[in-house]
Amino acid sequence: MESPIGVFDSGYGGLTILREIRKFLPQYDYLYLGDNARAPYGTRSFDIVYRFTLQAVEELFSRGCRLVILACNTASAKALRTIQQNDLPRIDPSRRVLGVIRPTVEALGHLTRSGHVGLFGTPGTVRSQSYTMEVAKLFPGMKITGHSCPMWVPLVENNEADKPGADYFVDKDSNALMEADSEIDTVILGCTHYPLLYPKIRKALPSHVTMISQGEIVAASLADYLRRHPEMERTLSRTSAIEYLTTERADSFSRMASIFLHTPVCATQITLS
Ligand code: DGL
Repeated sequence: MESPIGVFDSGYGGLTILREIRKFLPQYDYLYLGDNARAPYGTRSFDIVYRFTLQAVEELFSRGCRLVILACNTASAKALRTIQQNDLPRIDPSRRVLGVIRPTVEALGHLTRSGHVGLFGTPGTVRSQSYTMEVAKLFPGMKITGHSCPMWVPLVENNEADKPGADYFVDKDSNALMEADSEIDTVILGCTHYPLLYPKIRKALPSHVTMISQGEIVAASLADYLRRHPEMERTLSRTSAIEYLTTERADSFSRMASIFLHTPVCATQITLS
């Protein structure tokens, strides 16, 4: 059976991760799934995000994926651990689900000098404290300040990311983060939608602040994972094919995804249950 790498997000945001992964690892096949019909996830409860994410992972498994990347901070924060610990042993212990938070935090070690790090994320990601817990494990002296940006995902999902209306929210949230801790020198864009707002966030933050987008970090971490796990790497099919699935209308997904990826996309609509 063909075995593409599964990439999951609540909507379009994971495409920013997929784009970088394909630059690093163009030889493999990919199957992208956006749960656009139920996005955004960022304001939903733990139980709902877990249930939706598990459905998506099972769907990708049923379509041949042996390795699934949760290219969504909210799903990584709220569902990854439970899926890894409780569901994978039951479904198939040889399959893997990986998230985006751990590799992002690992990268912080080389980046911050002041040891003060800011995090922009969805309300769900910030509230979950997942970044704080991961930082405490890897870099106990580091201080992380989270700020949730509930308007940023809707701006991106509605194709408003480069419009003047987005400036108001980006400026407001960026100022609030820097006011909460003026020693911040590194800021994580902890939501896969946020790279679409990069130019506006870059303008809003002080110029000495380093911004971390996750695409390259996650791609490098996946390449490293596959080097360390040849038993998984061997199972992946490699025809450089890519397929897109969405739970909303295929034509809307295809149009928006083509904007995200700067290349024509033809998606298929599916139902998750
Ligand atoms: N793109 C997702 C993330 O990285 C969440 C967007 C949403 O559905 O709220 O957190």
